[in-house]
Order: sequence, then structure tokens, then C-alpha cells
Amino acid sequence: LQAKVFVTRRLPIELEPLRSLATVEVWPERQPPPYEILLEKVKEIDGLLCLLTDQIDRQLIDSGKLKVISQMAVGYDNIDITAATTRQIPVGNTPGVLTDATADFAWALLMAAARRVVEADRFTRAGLWQTWEPDLLLGPNVTGATLGIVGFGRIGQAIARRAKGFEMQILYTSRQRCSPELEQSLGVEFATLEHLLQKSDFVTLHTPSVDDTYHLISDRQFELMKRSAILINTARGNIVDPDSLYRALASCQIAAAIDVTEPEPIPSDSLLLTLDNLIIAPHIGSASRQTRSKMATMAIANLIAGLRGDRLANCVNPEVYN
Ligand code: GLV
Ligand code: GLV
Repeated sequence: LQAKVFVTRRLPIELEPLRSLATVEVWPERQPPPYEILLEKVKEIDGLLCLLTDQIDRQLIDSGKLKVISQMAVGYDNIDITAATTRQIPVGNTPGVLTDATADFAWALLMAAARRVVEADRFTRAGLWQTWEPDLLLGPNVTGATLGIVGFGRIGQAIARRAKGFEMQILYTSRQRCSPELEQSLGVEFATLEHLLQKSDFVTLHTPSVDDTYHLISDRQFELMKRSAILINTARGNIVDPDSLYRALASCQIAAAIDVTEPEPIPSDSLLLTLDNLIIAPHIGSASRQTRSKMATMAIANLIAGLRGDRLANCVNPEVYN
């Protein structure tokens, strides 16, 4: 009997290697499959390839007999990992291949916010460019500024490497301090979150979304920041309390550039959309052609390994192999 898999969206690669091994159904719409549909599908499949927009909770996991869940993303906060582990279902993700693309995009947001690129474009298109002005659209220096990196995994470290070229002072905070050798080669200094927020001209978030990072940046943290600080979020929306973000931006403390929101997509009546000192992108941190194709290839490889009963090359719950 051939294995059956469900792929929750069209992917930017050929699915032939998978089709030779399994009956493949691909959700054809632009919007994610509704939860009820996923719940029906999961009853008849062996493998699920999902995206961060699919809610893979305990009820869903318990409703089927999945052999593998393969997520095309590095983050997996949409999946109940504990429920999957209880049922011995390996969950795959796609780390590494999106590190540079995401760090590049965080850098693009940082530069855009500092030098007001989006406002400048709006200004020009509105026909407001009438002459060269000494004080038009001024922003802070990036070169030589102090950068605070919150979360120092692969992406956080990739940010540090870029910051070095801009001669920045680099502070980082993370659950675990890294080795003195790594700190030295990256030119970074460990700090508490509090100290980092007080000292940084730019604060960029690179932690996963877990219980400990839920609304990590709220009123108190915004109060600690310099009034001129710029916050960058390319990690997960719920690391920042959106109401606190609105208050901090509306009082013209700080500016921000975010690629992720809580919830996603951002509601069309969100007050955040009314602010000039905020840049918002639609969760495209990993969206380089090469990276998206590598992520899809990796997700397919994890899916195939799981169907075959082989160990996934990238498994977030390796306990299932104990
Ligand atoms: C994107 O946000 C990812 O987690 O890969
Ligand atoms: C993700 O790739 C991270 O570990 O930062």
C-alpha cells in the first residue's frame, strides 16, 4: 500500500521524488487549508508537510496516525511538539538554509528604518520633493552605533557578522552565554536584556517563540530603551506586546521595523498601520528564491525520511528516537 501525504500549499520545487514514493495531495489554494479540512485529511495520511500558518495541535495530531510531520520553516511554534513526541511522531524543520536570508532581511529593515527609506519613497511619490534640504528626512547613523541582539542562535550570530562591517558595538543576550573564543571572533559582548535595552541604538530580536519569550518586549522594556532606539523584529510577532509597541511608537519614542506581527496577518484595523515611524513587512524574512527552494527541498527530504522510517536529517524532537 502506497503512503499518502498531504502538502498544505504549493511549493516552489518539483515534487517528483516524493511522488515516486507516495500519493501526494497538494492544497491548491493561496489561503491555508481550514482547520476542519486538515482534521479530515490527517485521518487518511502518513505524512504531513505544513507551513507556519497551519495549526498542528494535539487534537489534530491525535486524530491521525501520522508517521512524520515536516514543517517548511525553522520555527515550529504552530506545532504541539509535546503531543507529537507522545505519539512518537518525528517533527522536521529547515534550519540553517534561511539563516543568511533572514539576517539579510533584518539588516534591510534596520537600514530602512534608520534612514527612513519607506517614508522617503512615500514623500517622493507624493510630489513633495521640491528641493535639496539640509534637514530633510534625517535619521541616526548606523555605522558606529550600538546594536543589541536578543537571542544568539544561528540568525543572531549572522547579524553580528554583518554588524562588524558597520563598525558597531555589539551587545547580545541569550539563555546561554557563548564561549569567550566565539565572543571574541564575533566581536560581541554578553549583556543582560536590561543593560542591552538601555545601551542599544538598535535592538533586533532573534529568539524563538516559546513561553519564556511571550511578550518579552512590553511596556517596561520599551521604557528602558533609548528614546531614539529602533526595534527590529524578524523573529515572531508575539515576542513583542503589540499594545506596548503601539504606545511606544505613538508617543514618538523609538521607531520600529517588523516582519512579524501578533496576530498574523496584521488586522486591517490595527492602529499600528497608522504610524509613520513603523515599517511592516508580511513575514518575508526567508523570502529569497534560493532560500525558499532550499527550505522546500529540505522539508521534502525530512518528509521522505519519515515515511521510510529513517531518522530525519533535521528533527526538533529527537527524543522520539530514544
Ligand atoms: C519563518 O518564520 C521560519 O520560521 O522559517
Ligand atoms: C535559527 O536558525 C536560529 O537558530 O537562530
